[in-house]
Parts: sequence; structure tokens; C-alpha cells
Amino acid sequence: MTSKSWPDMTDKVVWITGGSRGIGFAAATELATAGATVVLLGSTEESAQNAAESLVSKGLDVIGLGLNIADSAAVADKVGNHPLAAGADVLINCAGVMSDKMAKTLRATTVEWDRVMGINFNGTLNMIQAITPGMVDRRSGRVINVSACLGRFSGPGLAGGLAPYRISKTAVNALTKNLAAELGSGKRGVLVDAMCPNHTSTDMGGPDAPRSPEQAADTIIWLATREHEEESQTGLLWEDRQIVPW
Ligand SMILES: NC(=O)c1ccc[n+]([C@@H]2O[C@H](COP(=O)([O-])OP(=O)(O)OC[C@H]3O[C@@H](n4cnc5c(N)ncnc54)[C@H](OP(=O)(O)O)[C@@H]3O)[C@@H](O)[C@H]2O)c1
Repeated sequence: MTSKSWPDMTDKVVWITGGSRGIGFAAATELATAGATVVLLGSTEESAQNAAESLVSKGLDVIGLGLNIADSAAVADKVGNHPLAAGADVLINCAGVMSDKMAKTLRATTVEWDRVMGINFNGTLNMIQAITPGMVDRRSGRVINVSACLGRFSGPGLAGGLAPYRISKTAVNALTKNLAAELGSGKRGVLVDAMCPNHTSTDMGGPDAPRSPEQAADTIIWLATREHEEESQTGLLWEDRQIVPW
């Protein structure tokens, strides 16, 4: 089923938000096919279980979990207390929502700011707080935050419009760089990175987007499966396996 030859992930535990569809589902499929036990999250029990069952029916080791990642108490309870949390090897924060197309800084409502920041930024932070302490204790782990080029300070980023979305991704980038520094910039075994998938054909990206979810997932899986080496570069923003400026 896998389109690429990834390192063997047998005995590895992967947590992935946004795993119920789109780019996250493609990454979950590849990593489970490479042998990982995958805990796949969706916003509801139904979406998570449907996605998980479609992979379990192919013989893969996948568990579905539904919850609103913006709800810090729910994440602490359902994720932090889960039997597979402390031993997680990889956390992929892929869940995300787009803001209203007309959501400029002065026009977006407080409700819209809270919705988008709550899922894209707080959700990422909540998952990191629930999963990463076990990695720190074991001095081994990979955290991949799926960001967006629209959130960059450079290139196509922060050019106005879609304000809650862009700024939530800028905040995810800042969280990534700051956390990586706090964890010794890779020297203590935990690699923390952000990546841009680029315009991808999903419910968010629309049917005419040029990339497939599988193509978009490539850099995520590459980051999730790479070896930890003395010279591993981390605390960075990646696009197509290359470092790009924030
Ligand atoms: N597609 C693009 O062109 C593109 C470009 C740049 C960056 N990105 C980023 O890539 C990531 C994946 O995007 P995608 O296109 O695959 O999105 P998608 O197909 O719209 O899927 C969104 C995923 O997020 C989950 N989700 C939404 N709200 C949630 C919540 N409150 N709690 C838990 N899970 C929630 C959804 O779960 P349900 O199925 O239960 O709703 C679904 O699994 C996002 O972070 C996005 O910002 C995408």
C-alpha cells in the first residue's frame, strides 16, 4: 500500500491530529503501513473511528480517538491519560481549520479569532503538553507541527487577509522554534520542527489544488522517521525536505 520505502516503524507509537482526513490521513496511512501503531485523532469520535476502521480493515494497527483539541481539559484527560501517551515516539500536529475568507484583522469577529486560534494554535500546544513530557523523559521523540507558508514572515506569508489563519500559523511557528530551544535544539533526543505542506487537494485546499495529500505528507513522514544524529538540524521550518526561512 505504501508508495515509498520508509524506515521500519514497528514498535513505534505515532500520535497524529487531523488524522481523520486530508493530509493527516495520508500521513497516518503511510506510517501505519511502515509498521507503526498509530493513534489517529479527529474532531469527533465518529470521524476518528471511521478513518481508523478503514485502516484496521487493511490489517494496520490504528486506534481512533475523537476530541476537540482546542479543549485543554479534554486533551489532558483523553490524551494525557491514554495508555499510549507516555510512550509516544512521534507527535504530528496536523489538525487545522481555515478562517473565513473575509476575515481581515479589523473585520474578523472575536468568535472567529477564538475558533481559529483555539484549534490551530491552542490545539497544537495542548497536544504538545500532553504528549511531549514522555519524550523528554525518554530523551527520544519527534514533534512535527503542520504549519502553512501563509504564516511565514517571509515569502508568501503575512501578506494580509485570512488574518486568524495566517497568525495562528505564525504562532505555531514561534511555538516550534521556542520549544525546540527549550529542549536543547535536538541535543537531548527530541526533534521539534514545523513544515509547510503547500496547496493540497483536501477539504481545506479544495479539489483543484495541485498537490495530493500523499505528496503533502512526504515531508511530514520524512521528519517523523529520520534518525537522531549529532548534526540533526531542528527547530526549523521545512518545505519539500528543505529548510525555508520563517
Ligand atoms: N490543504 C492545504 O492546501 C494546506 C496548505 C497549507 C497548510 N495546510 C495545513 O495542513 C493541515 C491539514 O490540512 P488538510 O487540508 O488536510 O485539512 P482538512 O482536510 O480540512 O482536515 C482537517 C482535519 O482537522 C481536524 N480538526 C478540525 N477541527 C478540529 C478540532 N477542533 N479538534 C480536532 N481535530 C480537528 C478534522 O477532523 P474532522 O474530520 O473530525 O473534522 C480533520 O481531520 C492543517 O493544519 C492546514 O492548516 C493545508
